[in-house]
Amino acid sequence: MEFIDPMKIFGLGTGSTVNFLIHKIHRNYILKGQPLNAVSTSRETTNLATSLGINIVDLDQVDELDVVIDGADEVDPEKNLIKGGGGALLMEKIVASCSKQLIIIVDSSKIVSNLGKFPLPVEVVQFGSERIKASIERFLISMGYQMPKVTFRRAASNKYVTDQYNYILDLHLDEILDPNTLSLGLLQIVGVVEVGLFIDMASKVIIGNDDGSCKVI
Ligand code: A5P
Repeated sequence: MEFIDPMKIFGLGTGSTVNFLIHKIHRNYILKGQPLNAVSTSRETTNLATSLGINIVDLDQVDELDVVIDGADEVDPEKNLIKGGGGALLMEKIVASCSKQLIIIVDSSKIVSNLGKFPLPVEVVQFGSERIKASIERFLISMGYQMPKVTFRRAASNKYVTDQYNYILDLHLDEILDPNTLSLGLLQIVGVVEVGLFIDMASKVIIGNDDGSCKVI
């Protein structure tokens, strides 16, 4: 909460942890009469924030963004992240890349020694998505991943569609030993829009414990 300067526009990530934060912001600022302006990373965040009185500003209308606060699916000791479990990785990465600081809030279950147990989300365009999936599988095999499993994210019986009208492929890798090479390689495959690896992007990670205490790395 101390990262929010009510006089400045800040970025709001996506997910259950951020939803919890939005409710807290509502109690601590909006209900006390302090207006707030934020950039959103998803339709879900926009809907919740707006319903609780936070004004959502278009990223293109913002000259400078000091801080964005977001959750993560996994965090390694170098503060590299897997994100996109909620499907918002593309908008989250764009907003984070426009911000001076990316503050990540997680509970201790998200802290891992190596990324990869959580399936890596990769956003791809809809056109030719089966071919793009095959290219990703070939690339993973060339990187030494044995029989990599790549699945389309689903929403009920349909393929899940992101806020930017793309599909998400989840890469079940178990362990990612070289996140940078993997990310760069995936991004070179035509049709891949963005990868849920956030490398060297997090400024701080706040790890909340059950007893209400927290640790910052
Ligand atoms: C949204 O696409 C994700 O990147 C979330 O930030 C991430 O999945 C964390 O979500 P939770 O706070 O719900 O665990």
